[in-house]
Amino acid sequence: MDKKEKNMKLPAPSFKSGTSVEEAILKRRSMRSFSNTRLNWQQIGQLLWAGQGITAKKGNFPFRAAPSAGALYPMETFVVMEKGIYQYLPQNHEIRNIASGDKRMELSKAAFGQSFIDQAPVTIALCAVYSRITGKYGKRGIRYAHIEAGHIAQNIHLQAISLGLVSVPVGAFDDKATAGILNLPDDCVPLYLLPLGFPQKGKESQ
Ligand SMILES: Cc1cc2nc3c(=O)[nH]c(=O)nc-3n(C[C@H](O)[C@H](O)[C@H](O)COP(=O)(O)O)c2cc1C
Repeated sequence: MDKKEKNMKLPAPSFKSGTSVEEAILKRRSMRSFSNTRLNWQQIGQLLWAGQGITAKKGNFPFRAAPSAGALYPMETFVVMEKGIYQYLPQNHEIRNIASGDKRMELSKAAFGQSFIDQAPVTIALCAVYSRITGKYGKRGIRYAHIEAGHIAQNIHLQAISLGLVSVPVGAFDDKATAGILNLPDDCVPLYLLPLGFPQKGKESQ
């Protein structure tokens, strides 16, 4: 991790859209081809907020967009894109650059050659730090972290539809290779990859 790199504030998320929750549920489909159009920081920030953004505070305690057993928040969120890899810091709706250079092809290889990962302008990676939750819940905390990853991913998939994007959840990848690409510490385990992008013409969600 480059300690010199400053955190970058993301644009404030929007809380309104022209897409209802029902419409987003109806339109969400796993899509595996993307146009070349890049996402801007507003769109990336909106997706990250939908997954793990702070949506309320009780006293000083921040609650996030997705539920978490015991509000222990075991997940870390990363963005893999052409420019490099970024970690989302929910507290101030910021990102931190943790690697530079395009790692999408490497990630695609780590996902057993699922080539759409290389095509996707952005892949969001959800990773668990189990110790944050097993301290309170023991082994069951591992189950809770996996359930939470599903909540976060679904928020992101539905937010993607509302932004005119398409996405696919990916669970098939080599854990060790993926952790290496993301430069994860030993206690942080990659659980889910969410490639996202604008649809190719003629391949929009129904
Ligand atoms: C836990 C999980 C893992 C998945 N892993 C992959 C994957 O590695 N590659 C892929 O192309 N799709 C993957 N999918 C997407 C499914 O293939 C897809 O959800 C399914 O075909 C149903 O289609 P729908 O998402 O359009 O409703 C995964 C879905 C889930 C829930």
